[in-house]
Amino acid sequence: AKPKVVVCRSLGPAMPLLAQQADIDLVVWSEDRSCPRPWLLENIPGAAGVIVLLGDKVDEEFVRAAGPGLKVVSTMSVGYEHIDLPLMARHNIRVGYTPDVLTEAVADITIMLALMAGRNDNNVYSTVKNGDWARPNFAWSPFKLCGPQLSTTLSSPTRTAGFLGFGRIAQATLARLVGFGVTHALYTGNPASSNSSVRDEELKTRHRLQALERVDVDRLARESDILFVLTPGGAGTYHLVDEAFLRKMKPLSLLVNTSRGSVVDSDALAKALKENWIWGAGLDVVEGEPLITEDHPLVKEPRCVIVPHIGSATFETRLDMATRAVENLFAGLFGRDMPAELRV
Ligand code: GLV
Ligand code: GLV
Repeated sequence: AKPKVVVCRSLGPAMPLLAQQADIDLVVWSEDRSCPRPWLLENIPGAAGVIVLLGDKVDEEFVRAAGPGLKVVSTMSVGYEHIDLPLMARHNIRVGYTPDVLTEAVADITIMLALMAGRNDNNVYSTVKNGDWARPNFAWSPFKLCGPQLSTTLSSPTRTAGFLGFGRIAQATLARLVGFGVTHALYTGNPASSNSSVRDEELKTRHRLQALERVDVDRLARESDILFVLTPGGAGTYHLVDEAFLRKMKPLSLLVNTSRGSVVDSDALAKALKENWIWGAGLDVVEGEPLITEDHPLVKEPRCVIVPHIGSATFETRLDMATRAVENLFAGLFGRDMPAELRV
């Protein structure tokens, strides 16, 4: 029999890559909204492969429903917080994901959020929409609507970028920051790979950095002017940015999260903004998303800019991610090497 493949959302222009495969029995949730759990559980029995998105939990229930023939789960995401990897390993289910192809898009939006957070983005847009700009008491004014600058200045000749997690996206973000005059970078990372000091020397030379240093979380919080949260989610990084961390940060610092909402304690961040422990925040991800509405404490904070998890949302990158997800799926189905395979 042909292997059954379940796809949890239409992959748009990448669908022909799947549909052309005569050798599979294809089942697609094609409505443009999250795949309902009951539909998924009803349709995965007997599946050999499933393509999921980050809202689809791949857990005991999923694996049990699919049955023993499940060979591969391919997620169209670089993040894998929604997938129980040890469970996959126990059941010999291969897992594909989409690193690399989205690195540049997410680094772009990381810089965008740092700029938006520093420049009062929330307030400046409403100013124009409300008609305030035209009011007499609002004319261009020396210190009105100011915020901390991302690039270096006469009065502030060094800016320290801090990275909580220093993988591909963090390094691509650092490369962009060099153009803003950043010469000092700190990071925390996974246990040092054997060649990280070689890599750091290479990065320092390439970007003409004065300092690139691996530090503990305490120093990262205390010394960063802009703190970039770029670590994977999951239990190991849950609320790494909590009240204690935020209390150590500089009053004019910015926090940008483009990884997973679970890394930052939302209540603590709202308090930090309200009480001016830090100056502003830019978030592409928030814990509990997508159920984030106007009464959420962070949405109410005027110096918190929030966008709805669109870090990789460019035509080019999403097409590359969908293509990669399909390639991973077929590699898993037919026992070939995957372009990008996740292992525990
Ligand atoms: C997006 O958050 C992803 O994991 O690709
Ligand atoms: C601002 O517009 C300036 O001219 O300084």
